[in-house]
Amino acid sequence: MNFKKITKENLSIKDQDILKRLQVMKEKQKGAMFPYNILLIGFMGSGKTTISDCLSQLFDMEIIDMDQEIVKKEDMTIPEIFKTKGEEYFRDAETNLLIELQSKTNTIISCGGGTAMRERNKVEMKKNGRVVLLTASPETILERVKDNHDRPLLEGRKTVEYISELMDQRRPKYEAAADIVISTDQKSVLEICEEIALKAAN
Ligand code: S3P
Repeated sequence: MNFKKITKENLSIKDQDILKRLQVMKEKQKGAMFPYNILLIGFMGSGKTTISDCLSQLFDMEIIDMDQEIVKKEDMTIPEIFKTKGEEYFRDAETNLLIELQSKTNTIISCGGGTAMRERNKVEMKKNGRVVLLTASPETILERVKDNHDRPLLEGRKTVEYISELMDQRRPKYEAAADIVISTDQKSVLEICEEIALKAAN
């Protein structure tokens, strides 16, 4: 799953067809594509940021990346927040931000991988819009996160075994929070966006 700015030249024939269908869907919609915000949840590396960028480009929606918002507010990186203030502090910042974002419309909210773990956050997310869970196999996740060092929970533990274990622990909470579930394995970004458009637009 790779995402470059969408131009006809960098798309496969299959993706060019998907793009045409999505453009027709958007035109028919006239105003906003979705009558509510879209919240993307899922494990680290499930593709939330990539899919947000693509949906935003396709449907002229604002993006709020919760991790980036918290980094801006705290003026610290995520590893720094975890190290100096602790995970609970970060989780409280997520809850407060979800409440603050309830005034938004036509927005894609890309949640952190752990946001859905708090019962309270599930409630606040549902007030914000429709919750879309992106899933991927532990092997795919490892491939996507292996060169990144911004995720304190995975530092020093980047193995398929650890990712599977944490994913199994988290799965019930992800599924309980989700209105829609989309598997991202072996799909192009546009295929995933089309699935979201078809499942979330009604
Ligand atoms: C976390 C996921 C991260 C970030 C923080 C904690 C988690 O977000 O919020 O490192 O608990 O799964 P991404 O899913 O965007 O990497």
